[in-house]
Amino acid sequence: METTLRNLPVPQRVLFTTFLLMIGLGYLSAMVLLYFVDVEPHAASGQGLVAGIAEKYHGVPTRLEAALRGPMADRIGPVEKETVFSWIRNGATADTFETVKPIIDENCVSCHNPTSGVKRPSGEPVPSFETYDEIVDAYLIDIDTGLSFAQLARVSHIHLFGISLLFVITGYIISLSATPAWFRVLLIVTPYLAIAGDVSAWWLSKWEALFAWVVVIGGALMGLALAAQILIAIWEMWLGKASSGRREAGPAFR
Ligand code: HEC
Repeated sequence: METTLRNLPVPQRVLFTTFLLMIGLGYLSAMVLLYFVDVEPHAASGQGLVAGIAEKYHGVPTRLEAALRGPMADRIGPVEKETVFSWIRNGATADTFETVKPIIDENCVSCHNPTSGVKRPSGEPVPSFETYDEIVDAYLIDIDTGLSFAQLARVSHIHLFGISLLFVITGYIISLSATPAWFRVLLIVTPYLAIAGDVSAWWLSKWEALFAWVVVIGGALMGLALAAQILIAIWEMWLGKASSGRREAGPAFR
């Protein structure tokens, strides 16, 4: 007789059930943590989940970058703009200021100097950008480029090792389900694809903030697949009809 979840001895069903329930609680705790780390701190400033995640991996644009992506966007060509952004991302140090000084002098200082007389709409003079200190003091305090590569590598390997092992066990349990083979394969493979997409998206978000969406979608997909594994397995072990001894379609899918 083929082993299925239904005809497992009671001690094994109890083992699998308690394990699956704890994993379910673990996932819910992870969601609570996510809420307190990535959602709640940003909610006050009106930022949603995706914006919060983008900020975590990609960082917060400095005021200089924000101005060059916003009101000052037309003052400078795309190539020069990228040069300034990469200078900022690399720490905006005094040593490397020479790479951007000619760009600022040529495109910005005509207005951004103390004697230009150019004013903000509020009437105050625009900030001066003649020297490194003026730019850094006013516009580059606290450069935040998100998680470092070392931090990303740390969280990535912990998640990949830990979650992969976890899904070997839940996947093994669901492989004994009476649902059609293609469905079991789908349920076994989906969480692995989701975690691979999720972790890749952390790295990609560092480069492009839009990948924060993939982080959210990957995480949600993993949660859904895990929930399906847990609910189907527990249902079949305790609530499904007694097996006639041969593999049949689970009642849930008839
Ligand atoms: C034609 C004049 C002019 C040029 C050229 C110019 N700016 Fe400005 N800039 C302004 C004015 C006017 C404001 C104030 C806008 C406002 O407050 O609405 C401003 C504001 C800013 C701010 C402040 C934004 C903020 O919220 O505090 C930054 C940063 C900035 N400019 C950067 C630059 C950079 C970098 C360049 C060169 C690529 C540049 N600007 C070229 C006129 C200019």
